[in-house]
Amino acid sequence: MELTAYRERFPIVSHSTYLISHSLGPMPAEAERRVLEYTSSWSTRGIRAWSEGWWELPLTVGDQIGRLMGAPSGTTVMHQNVTVAEAVVLSCFDLRGERNRIVYEEENFPSVRYLQQAQRGAEIVVCRDEEQIVEAIDERTLLVPITHVIFKTGRIQDIEPIIRRAHEVGAYVVLDAYQSLGTVPLDVTELEVDFAVGGSVKWLCGGPGAGWLYVRPDLIERLEPTLVGWQAHKRPFDFAPELEYAQGVARFLTGTPNVPALYAATAGYDIVEEIGVERIRERSIPQTELLAGLLDEAGFEVVSPRDPSRRGGSVVVRTPDFQRAHAELEARDILCDFRPDVGLRIGPHFFNTDEEIELIVSSIREIVGRGATEPAPADTR
Ligand SMILES: Cc1ncc(COP(=O)(O)O)c(C=O)c1O
Repeated sequence: MELTAYRERFPIVSHSTYLISHSLGPMPAEAERRVLEYTSSWSTRGIRAWSEGWWELPLTVGDQIGRLMGAPSGTTVMHQNVTVAEAVVLSCFDLRGERNRIVYEEENFPSVRYLQQAQRGAEIVVCRDEEQIVEAIDERTLLVPITHVIFKTGRIQDIEPIIRRAHEVGAYVVLDAYQSLGTVPLDVTELEVDFAVGGSVKWLCGGPGAGWLYVRPDLIERLEPTLVGWQAHKRPFDFAPELEYAQGVARFLTGTPNVPALYAATAGYDIVEEIGVERIRERSIPQTELLAGLLDEAGFEVVSPRDPSRRGGSVVVRTPDFQRAHAELEARDILCDFRPDVGLRIGPHFFNTDEEIELIVSSIREIVGRGATEPAPADTR
């Protein structure tokens, strides 16, 4: 099946130039049907719905996420978002000992940074890039939360040396793969990474409320998270007074799962799984190549890496007055976004056409060009 044939599955694509899958992937029509399936099971099956699939959703949906990144079944669970998933990881460790250092990079997503900074007893070491991280990891390092694809620039990080160094000294790496899963192939088993986290709103087209956490198989039974709830209990329906950890990855769960979000999310995962992330990447590289080339020709500064093997699914470009350009593009139903200190972010996905990429660049050119020729407002100071 041609990739552009998938356009039919995303209603918004028929009337918008949707180039913002790095931020909010479009809703598959099927997601609406699945939400109705959820309301129908609630309405017709009532309490029985828990034993007919609802309770298990964080594990069954987690297994599907696992398949997209080379994780064996029983290693991935669903949470509300990355922040919660990272908090569960943090809760497995004691920061009161000698080993209390958290080495992370300044380009981690703010939510992740805030959570790490807020940990009592942690000694935080902030690094500029992967070389600095490798240098900073030492025997006192406990955790190394890093990002696969940097959200502000779309740069793919060289994560193998970080994982290697961390393992040499007995530290654990938490990989945030939010900006890669669904567009850049990732194999957590091959990487031997300790934990991986992400969510569904971007390249997976799964909507909000469906974050995920992967735990390396041999760590699962060794760790005891303190951020737990009854889904993490061995026999939750005994309502026992004492905690007994569940066997397997369920011990990384908390309380009642986010059922509607998990129903909605799998519609996008199914499409990504059907196409395959390798094939999506094969299409993404020429798309971002075309985009970067046209932006270059227009004389704008492309902030994302020029080397396609180091560039994720989005292209970030600094243009004069990019906030106004963004507002005008949105008014024309051409959707992208911007980050204050870097510029416009444009994220084509498998369903986008080359014409759409050409349209956004010619529109930016026209908007920015017109702005430059406008007379400057009178200085009334
Ligand atoms: C790399 C990365 N990590 C995390 C997040 C979001 O974290 P959370 O799921 O906690 O909202 C984003 C963007 O929303 C992101 O780009």
